Amino acid sequence: MSEGRILVVEDEAIIAREIRHALEGFGYEVLAVIPRGEDAVAFALREHPDLVLMDIMLAGVMDGTAAAAAIREHLDIPIIFSTAYTDRETVERVKPTSPYGYLVKPFEHTHLRITVETALYRAAMERKLRAQEQRLRQAEKMQAVGTLASGVAHDFNNILSAIIGYSEMGLRRAPEADPLHRMFDRIHRAGVRARSLVRLLLDFSRPAAADCEPVDMAGVIEEALDVVRATLPPGVAVDYAPPSGPCPVRADATQMHQVALNLMVNAVDAMRAGGGRLAVRLAPCAAREQAAEGADAAQEPRHAVTLEIADTGPGMAPEVLRRACDPFFTTKASGQGTGMGLAIVQGIVRSHGGRLTLESEPGKGTRATAALPCADR
Ligand SMILES: Nc1ncnc2c1ncn2[C@@H]1O[C@H](COP(=O)(O)OP(=O)(O)OP(=O)(O)O)[C@@H](O)[C@H]1O
Ligand SMILES: [Mg+2]
Repeated sequence: MSEGRILVVEDEAIIAREIRHALEGFGYEVLAVIPRGEDAVAFALREHPDLVLMDIMLAGVMDGTAAAAAIREHLDIPIIFSTAYTDRETVERVKPTSPYGYLVKPFEHTHLRITVETALYRAAMERKLRAQEQRLRQAEKMQAVGTLASGVAHDFNNILSAIIGYSEMGLRRAPEADPLHRMFDRIHRAGVRARSLVRLLLDFSRPAAADCEPVDMAGVIEEALDVVRATLPPGVAVDYAPPSGPCPVRADATQMHQVALNLMVNAVDAMRAGGGRLAVRLAPCAAREQAAEGADAAQEPRHAVTLEIADTGPGMAPEVLRRACDPFFTTKASGQGTGMGLAIVQGIVRSHGGRLTLESEPGKGTRATAALPCADR
């Protein structure tokens, strides 16, 4: 049975009815039949259909090509044109909207079915390819940061040792009342902060998951929660119900601790100003469904323990969500975040054969889900 939610844009009632009937007969869901281009654009932006079947000559202000261009500007959905016109000029006008098919009226039902089916298939394949490309770019970026870090870290540490060492000497020699003492103190603190950043980069560039052994995730979570609870800002509540069964994962315990803590700290940070609820959920090993379309099946452990960390904070705008796992990407004030948290979390989860998913919408909070391979499978 075919699947797909289709928007039909057609201003001739009889043709529209026939197309709807044919598409429904093939098992597609026709979301609406709309006669005017401008109304079709508004509907598509609201409902996000899987495919649009677009007549070119329409009664309203916008013709089919203009409506298609307006839809494609915001949404990545396949559009098939249907028209009685095959003249050069019409075809040229259609081209820039990258159509997924062109049906010349009157068309056979079989032709309609094949065109729709191939368009949906092509769109799904393209989405998958784009997701893979993006993952590859991310991996390359991480590798570049790692190479750079390990290349300069050694020299950098020597320089920092001098800065830290001499500022310590200065601190000892300058009496506390002397303004120099405060200056040495500042230099010393900055040096120490730089050293921890170098350490972070080195950890990041080292091949992870060296000490894998069965780790009880419930224990890891409870320890991380103890740390978080100790520094919880007012107005933030923690909601954690222990899992219904054992949650052993094959992992490096220290790295799992890092994953849990980083995700929890991000959630708490997001609610620092407005308060809210941090919900931590750990689900014991379960067989997962086949990876969702577009996701990378290889990154999806078949039997996984899932750790979910959700907050009711302000959420992320799409452009922030897209870059959240990039190394050094942060929206926090300088000195408050390095932007390495999620890059490290993603690196660790992946190196364990797991998968990290981030879901977030402005005003609706954020949910991070880490699926980690079970140790007992
Ligand atoms: N739970 C969340 N809610 C809202 N925004 C988030 C959340 N988690 C991450 N972000 C966004 O993603 C960005 C990157 O997060 P990441 O953890 O990598 O770095 P950071 O928290 O800014 O700094 P660091 O973790 O190094 O202290 C954050 O600056 C923030 O904009
Ligand atoms: Mg962080």
